[in-house]
Amino acid sequence: MKILLDPIKRVDGVVHISGSKNATLPLMVCSMLTDETITLYNVPCISDVLVMKQLLEDIGIKIDYDIENKRMILKKGLLKQFSNLENIKKIRASIYVIGGLIANKINFKSYYPGGCAFSKRPIDYHLEAFKAVGYKITDKNNLLKVRKHRNIKQDLTFKIYKQSVGTTINLLIINVLRKYKTIIHNASVEPEVLEVINVLNKMNANIRVDNTTITIDGVKQLQGVSHHIMSDRIEAGSYMLLACASSKANLLIKDIDSSYLTEVINTIKELGVYVEINKNNIHIKKDYPLVGINKVASYYPMFPTDLQQILCVTCCKAITPSIIKDEIYPNRLSHVKELQKAKAKIYIKDFIIYIYPSILDINKVYAHDLRCGFACIVMGCLIKNQLIIENADIILRGYENVISKLKHIGVSINVE
Ligand code: EPU
Repeated sequence: MKILLDPIKRVDGVVHISGSKNATLPLMVCSMLTDETITLYNVPCISDVLVMKQLLEDIGIKIDYDIENKRMILKKGLLKQFSNLENIKKIRASIYVIGGLIANKINFKSYYPGGCAFSKRPIDYHLEAFKAVGYKITDKNNLLKVRKHRNIKQDLTFKIYKQSVGTTINLLIINVLRKYKTIIHNASVEPEVLEVINVLNKMNANIRVDNTTITIDGVKQLQGVSHHIMSDRIEAGSYMLLACASSKANLLIKDIDSSYLTEVINTIKELGVYVEINKNNIHIKKDYPLVGINKVASYYPMFPTDLQQILCVTCCKAITPSIIKDEIYPNRLSHVKELQKAKAKIYIKDFIIYIYPSILDINKVYAHDLRCGFACIVMGCLIKNQLIIENADIILRGYENVISKLKHIGVSINVE
């Protein structure tokens, strides 16, 4: 799919934010942990969710997805190993299904999970966790054979080397039904992780969070749950940065818990843009030129890595230089390549991104990954001619109704 963007003068209107991708995917997997029904509301219709649905159906979860009403009902049947291995490679979150099979003591074969390949994304922490609960994993030409070989009848303590969203969630999945205590040090406490803990506790789990230490007291069984999924702070931040990049903007972001976006809001204020916050709305008014900023993307509550690429594009529009560093994924730089093709004055030295005021000039860019894709859309706001974005399907992995939402706020966008 190609996206065609025509130059626009301003962004104006309302954007309703959808349910969070990175909360929805593990919450769907929680259906593997109970015999009762899980009902999720505010489920975004994005391609990663559709792939996750196929993955879960393949291993024996019955799913009824009412897209119009954003409601998904999941119920565990007789679980079995993957029969369609190809889907595993399509999303990173398939690693949670692997965790779910382990929690259910099933032996299986799997490929490595896929997802956006913006950087080296190892799964060594996950494999260590699987081994610690008694699984043996062998790798033959990238096909993993996962076999239970020991019963671990004891409390376990993990210290995650680098705070990891996926590893923390998988440690919850594989230990919540173990009879023993599990302690996770240096756990990720990103809002999406806390959302999973909240839902598991609603299902009768016994999980406590103290700073970055999580304690799980294993329970015998979990019950069903109904849950309205939190809104997607990254989607909201993406539209906020798009508004900042356009020459003028008057944008109301609705259905978003602004408390999850404190650092993003601070960043936008540092750029010189007016932001007004109510609990579930964020109003952005942009009339004046942006000023450059100095920003480090890191763990919550710092600026999120998932917005780093988009922020870089916005900063090209500033009248003074910016310096940006991504501490989680220093190599998340696919957008820099596209910006350099567009003659932006953007340079990397020792993984630090230096951005100088730039006039972009290009008519075709490539969306290498999901957030690079949205960054390309923002590039369209900075260019005086039509911009074609190739490989634009990748944007549908994480942005619900992106074309109609953009049209609604005045972006001149078409699909080919
Ligand atoms: N890491 C390892 N080994 C592992 C796991 C992680 O070295 O086994 C490292 C990573 O390389 C990285 C750091 O730990 O440097 C943190 O990675 P994390 O595990 O937190 O990332 P993830 O769970 O694979 C999730 C989101 C990403 C988001 C990151 C960071 C999902 C499905 N994905 O990935 O979302 O960038 O956390 O917040 O939840 C996106 O939405 O565009 C996206 C890529």
